[in-house]
Amino acid sequence: MDTTQNTFSYLRDLVEQISKKDKLHSKKISANISFLTEHYPEQINELAGLVSMYFDNLHLTSDRVASDYLKMINDMRTEGLYFYKYGKYRCENQRIANEYVYSKPEVMTYYMNALLVSQIMWKHHFNMFMYFQKSLKTLFPDDSAVTILDIGPGHGFFSYLTKKEFSNYSKLDIVDISDTSLEMTKTIIGYDADKIRYFKKDIFEYDDSNKYDFIVLGEVLEHLDEPKQILLKLSKLLNPGGFLWVTTPTNSPALDHVHLFTTKEEVLALMNESGLRTVHSCNYFAEDMTEEAALKNKITNLIGLFCQN
Ligand SMILES: C[S@@+](CC[C@H](N)C(=O)[O-])C[C@H]1O[C@@H](n2cnc3c(N)ncnc32)[C@H](O)[C@@H]1O
Repeated sequence: MDTTQNTFSYLRDLVEQISKKDKLHSKKISANISFLTEHYPEQINELAGLVSMYFDNLHLTSDRVASDYLKMINDMRTEGLYFYKYGKYRCENQRIANEYVYSKPEVMTYYMNALLVSQIMWKHHFNMFMYFQKSLKTLFPDDSAVTILDIGPGHGFFSYLTKKEFSNYSKLDIVDISDTSLEMTKTIIGYDADKIRYFKKDIFEYDDSNKYDFIVLGEVLEHLDEPKQILLKLSKLLNPGGFLWVTTPTNSPALDHVHLFTTKEEVLALMNESGLRTVHSCNYFAEDMTEEAALKNKITNLIGLFCQN
């Protein structure tokens, strides 16, 4: 069997396990996977291949991965009920997120496993990777020895794609506050002599004297009490001519989401207030509906931005 068949049979198996536990949800996932395999056959094969390799290494069955994924879906439903009732996220600040989520391996493990599979099963996540990958080609000349910083890599897919696109990169530093996330990223990305370094750190305690050509901040802003402070810090870490890639969702209740963005305009305004110029942007809603209906129903909108100083 070739790798494509292996990957697709892994995805089929996962959907089947999800369907045994939550039939309705599995229909949505199944439709998403059909869309992705039709539109991005090579790319889904590559990223889903990494996911299945990761779980195989840990000897985690697709039954277990499906259970972890549905635990996250249930958490999101609970947080969603609170959000739609009170118009705010339940988790009040990043200290609480750290105490109840990042520092708790038993929560972080199922959460990060679930987040990892969502990257290949949710259209808005996958579309974001495709936009990111396509845009990378336009940022730096092909053979640039780019220096890269990834903050809060979670699964590490943004670093994986960046490293692949800038194959002549000279340094990739990866910073996360959680051991679980760092371990997952290490498995996905690995090492490359001394070019890749991992730091377990709160980004606010990270060394200010380092400078980078490309900084990745994927889905971290909404985890912070004061998102502007991190943007101010990152703008200091950016080399002249460098780019900062930021993604963040609006209206996205989750266990550890603290800062609520309600519109894309709010995110763009925050970049502006932090002295950053947005040079490219995109957004993908989490549900298939018109933009008007999605905005009216406060559907999660994943925003992606390339910014410069
Ligand atoms: C939702 S995950 C993002 C994963 C991935 N970057 C993406 O775009 O999907 C958020 C990550 O940020 C990390 N994180 C949250 N606050 C942080 C902080 N203050 N410093 C460093 N990492 C942080 C969490 O541990 C987690 O790995």
